[in-house]
Amino acid sequence: MARRTVVINNRGGVGKSDVTLRLGAALAKRGRRVGLLDFDPQGNLSRRAGWTYNEAQPQVTVSEAVQSNRVGAMRQVWTPVNWDIEYADRMRLAPAWLELENRYAEAGVPSAHLRLAKALQGADDDLDHVLIDCPPSLFHLTQMAFAAGDGVLLVTRAEIDAILGARRVREFIGEHKVGLHADDLTIDGVIVNDYEQARPRQRQQLESIRRIFGDLVWDPIIGRREIMANASNDHVPLEHAKGSQLQQAVAGFELLADTYEKRTAA
Ligand SMILES: Nc1ncnc2c1ncn2[C@@H]1O[C@H](COP(=O)(O)OP(=O)(O)O)[C@@H](O)[C@H]1O
Ligand SMILES: [Mg+2]
Repeated sequence: MARRTVVINNRGGVGKSDVTLRLGAALAKRGRRVGLLDFDPQGNLSRRAGWTYNEAQPQVTVSEAVQSNRVGAMRQVWTPVNWDIEYADRMRLAPAWLELENRYAEAGVPSAHLRLAKALQGADDDLDHVLIDCPPSLFHLTQMAFAAGDGVLLVTRAEIDAILGARRVREFIGEHKVGLHADDLTIDGVIVNDYEQARPRQRQQLESIRRIFGDLVWDPIIGRREIMANASNDHVPLEHAKGSQLQQAVAGFELLADTYEKRTAA
């Protein structure tokens, strides 16, 4: 069975989807089999991994798997990541698009929050890691992800709203994990992304992040690099993106993948 990590912040735009994608790629580069599960109806992760919804030939997505409420339904959803790079062979995408929004209305159905866990059961046995990219919300989709996950990875910027968003996630899990059937869910770490060392305010906020989350803050901190946004915009692997500081960006995620494996080892 794969190790399932829920990537989340209650604040949007902090880099959850980019970190999910680039960390997943770095893990695949190390030889791991990685599932990227897009659980945000915005579908940004799916698009950045090269996927598009085709109305003429509708694909089965995460939304239908969850709606079916059937054990193992995610088996039909995994699709290759069509990147022209060797390690993409070890990556799978479970895509999402706007349709996933319709699952919110079903939140009141008894045990609805267990549907993702059920759909993944037996459907990620041939993977080492599954990274679940959440919307910036603590409502039903994210609750399903908590019930399905083994650990939680908070992504934040060194900025007050993002830090508060990460804290709300931690408090929410503490308060509700038993009710969500996520009793064993742990916070694995905090990734600080999009960091601008030159800004005194950000240096200050980084200090508060360390004060609040202590040892949970992972190394390295990911700096703001245009090449990251370019890669996502052009839906290509980091290695094929336009812009400077490629080596630094790639090396940052290689180190982060190392931290990930150390921190999440059973
Ligand atoms: N370290 C970074 N440097 C530069 N741009 C980044 C970085 N991390 C994320 N971005 C860009 O910032 C925007 C928001 O990131 P995204 O991953 O969509 O955040 P979220 O999933 O939390 O909403 C995207 O355009 C993304 O490519
Ligand atoms: Mg996102």
